[in-house]
Amino acid sequence: ADILPFYGTYQQGIITPQQDFIYFAAFDIIGKKQSDVRGLFEKWTAAAARMTQGETAGDETNNQHLPPTDTGEAIGLTPSKLTLTFGVGPTLFTKDGSDRFGLASKRPSQLADLPAFSADELQEEWSGGDIGVQVCANDPQVAFHAIRNLARIARGTAVIRWSQAGFQRTEKAAAQPGTARNLMGFKDGTGNPDVTDANAMNDVVWVQPSESKAWMTNGTYMIVRRIRMRIEEWDRSTLKDQEATFGRSRNSGAPIGGTDEFEKLDLEKKDASGKPLIPVDSHVALAHGDGKVRILRRSYSYTNGIDSKTGQLDTGLFFVCFNRDPLKQFVPMQTRLSKSDRLNEYIVHVGSAVFACLPGAAPGGFIGQQLF
Ligand code: HEM
Repeated sequence: ADILPFYGTYQQGIITPQQDFIYFAAFDIIGKKQSDVRGLFEKWTAAAARMTQGETAGDETNNQHLPPTDTGEAIGLTPSKLTLTFGVGPTLFTKDGSDRFGLASKRPSQLADLPAFSADELQEEWSGGDIGVQVCANDPQVAFHAIRNLARIARGTAVIRWSQAGFQRTEKAAAQPGTARNLMGFKDGTGNPDVTDANAMNDVVWVQPSESKAWMTNGTYMIVRRIRMRIEEWDRSTLKDQEATFGRSRNSGAPIGGTDEFEKLDLEKKDASGKPLIPVDSHVALAHGDGKVRILRRSYSYTNGIDSKTGQLDTGLFFVCFNRDPLKQFVPMQTRLSKSDRLNEYIVHVGSAVFACLPGAAPGGFIGQQLF
């Protein structure tokens, strides 16, 4: 039950119910030829297919005179719902104006650098990448093991540009199943579309035939944002202010004025004085908009020790989302949020990357096959 299929129409780790841990890594290609990139995807696919099924990254030779083919820390562990999801960034197609790998004509128009949003404080060290790999699992060692072995296999062809580990409460720790809370103490994920609804997923997540480059059919675009929380400020704000910031009740997760977490968000509801119950500048009001444009969020919390400049905790949300067309979905949404979201007082976006997630692979094939 803790083994998820690797091969399929779509890549795993997208509409897969969210596991407890993430280890994300962005890689830059240092190889020079298209065949280097292609070869890397072939090797990575083979290793990913094995690791997700609970096997070592490569066949063990037990040769005493060679380093083992697998680093070993996952021996004896179950796959713990391990998934690996691969995406390619805009710089794989052109970097500094150069068509390094002869792929420039294959870049879909939807895969562009995100515009600068007001209030962004992006840092190079947490942004970009030629390839993004999202690894999720219900065990942090299993997740780390997968990235470590991919990095090892990539030696000489690709290097890790940045990486981030993240977590949410483990299923085991939760007294009852339900939406996990972020580090601001609120249930996060309530308003997501239903991943078991194929129509909704076709509408929100999966690239449909002929709306993008042919190789992207059944793929999706992944956006990751490393969003630092100013938790010291947050922890000093009143409960009333916290709830007005999100537009939801902290305890139940229900929209302000409601009782049930999953009741419909009604932005028209007014209080006795005629003011909207859910503030117009609250995070949910702005993210929701007219409710027609949606994304699939799959975020995790992160902590990275302290910020040596301020002595404050470096912690926040490692925001991950999937959408069919970032220019029509994520970008307009984040434009609204970056301008007026009440939450901006307590957060700052410090990292950003966008990747085109390839369609899934069939046995015998490899992730990225359609691209080359
Ligand atoms: C809703 C937290 C950033 C998009 C929510 C909710 C919370 C939350 C607590 C209400 C419960 C839910 O529906 O999940 C946060 C935090 C963020 C953050 C703490 C940053 C640290 C973002 C960003 C985007 C986004 C960057 C996209 C640009 C949404 C959407 C909803 C939502 C689409 C659902 C709105 C609806 O009900 O239609 N978020 N969020 N959030 N958030 Fe965020």
